[in-house]
Amino acid sequence: MRYQSQRVAYWFFATCMALLSLQIIYGFIMAFAHAGYDVLHNVIPFHAARATHTNLLIMWLLSGFMGAAYYIIPEEVEREIYWPKLAYAQLVALVVVGVTAIIGFHFNWWEGRKFLEIPRPLDYLVVLDVLLFVANIGMTVLRGRRKTTTALVLYFGLLSMALLYLPGMIPTSNQTIDSYLRWWVVHLWVEGVWELIMGGILSFLLIKLTGIDREVVEKWLYVIVGLTFLSGILGTGHHYYYIGTPKYWFWVGGIFGALEPLAFLGMAIYAVSMARRGGRDHPNRIAMLWTVGCSIMSFVGGGFLGFAHTLPQVNLYTHGTLVTAMHAHMAFWGAYAMLVLAIISYAMPQLTGRKLYDKPAALLAFWASNIGMVAMTLAFAVAGVTQVYLERKVGLDFLAVQKEIEIHFVGLILAASLFTLGIACFIYNFVLYGLPVGVVAIDGREVPLAVAPAE
Ligand code: HEM
Ligand code: HEM
Ligand SMILES: [Fe+2]
Repeated sequence: MRYQSQRVAYWFFATCMALLSLQIIYGFIMAFAHAGYDVLHNVIPFHAARATHTNLLIMWLLSGFMGAAYYIIPEEVEREIYWPKLAYAQLVALVVVGVTAIIGFHFNWWEGRKFLEIPRPLDYLVVLDVLLFVANIGMTVLRGRRKTTTALVLYFGLLSMALLYLPGMIPTSNQTIDSYLRWWVVHLWVEGVWELIMGGILSFLLIKLTGIDREVVEKWLYVIVGLTFLSGILGTGHHYYYIGTPKYWFWVGGIFGALEPLAFLGMAIYAVSMARRGGRDHPNRIAMLWTVGCSIMSFVGGGFLGFAHTLPQVNLYTHGTLVTAMHAHMAFWGAYAMLVLAIISYAMPQLTGRKLYDKPAALLAFWASNIGMVAMTLAFAVAGVTQVYLERKVGLDFLAVQKEIEIHFVGLILAASLFTLGIACFIYNFVLYGLPVGVVAIDGREVPLAVAPAE
């Protein structure tokens, strides 16, 4: 850490830890409901739990991206954050709006559109908050001493993310148009502009952790941005097969959707090859593990499992089933959750001056959460494929099928318990790190104020 204002990142990361914990609780509520134990139904019906689970996910990832930007941008452009106090205010506002939305879901105040459930009045506040954040980062970049490719890719990713929230707010009573626009937000976020954010953060981490020249790392970034735009924009078509849009989307969505894994493959090859070539053996090996793990798991969850149902012939059967949930878990985990956990793992020793990366809890956090998530994905896969077969081949009724697949959710609960053990270890380590400290120059080098011993 070289700038005082970078400390604000800590509070965004702490928010991530709190919201992730809450998200997991709602995951268990749904897993038990699926297994036949919907005991909380009268208080938290499935739709409320589902909206809460996914919106908490989006919220903690946003908080993680913002924290990452407030940490990375000052170091990249070599200056303090332009409006440091605004960063704190903007975090408080984000949490207040998010928590209000979550409470609202429990009282049936929601929009009923998957992933865009936040009620309209709160949407405006979300947009305002994110625009303030983008302005703060934008001013920091503009007034910075240098402008790096990494900083610019990260900044434009964040700006596009804010702008792409708007199509979801266009009022219409036509369900096809509503669905068409909803995908501009959902798809163009995770398979478009979020990939730029991912590329930017990975690039920063690889430069820091491997010691490889910025020019080499950033050259790859251009390739990834190119591949993302080439496939991701028209790839939106893989959501337009069966929603009442023209037939040409079968071709457009089929072809460009099938190309999308290339961007994730590029990301994985990039991170692995940089890690192997890296001359410097950075002591924070756990941050390296999360960084490289993120690039590989995002290819497995996004690229591979996304490809599994992107062709219209397959999607005809799998659309809107637990096969989608299978892909969604691994993709969100691999690409974005692991990315946020990677930057937290890298930043915490710098922010607090403590070195806890060699602790057994740090290693256990990585392996238990990843093996747990792979097992969860398998449980969803078995449930999903069985659902597709019984419901869409055999022709059984939706609820009769849900009864048949209850047993697979017992498997999901076991897998999720292992996953939760991993996350608990991560949070335990996070808490042990303690609060961020200031910086001071020693021999011309900026170092944290209080460098505590490793233990
Ligand atoms: C203890 C851990 C977790 C459990 C037990 C769990 C369980 C579930 C269940 C049962 C559903 C509903 C599936 C349905 O619609 O029937 C769901 C949805 C979802 N969960 Fe989780 N989850 C967990 C953690 C996570 C994590 C860590 C992430 C992201 C990294 C995540 C992302 C999602 C997403 C994106 C959906 C919506 C899927 C879709 O659109 O079909 N979950 N989860
Ligand atoms: C890390 C990147 C990705 C994430 C986080 C992600 C997440 C998701 C989520 C949450 C959904 C459910 C959306 C909803 O129903 O509202 C979904 C659906 C889908 N995803 Fe992805 N995805 C990613 C990458 C990909 C890629 C690269 C492909 C194609 C190769 C793909 C293909 C699909 C398809 C075809 C659906 C529609 C499923 C259906 O018809 O029910 N995804 N994805
Ligand atoms: Fe998509």
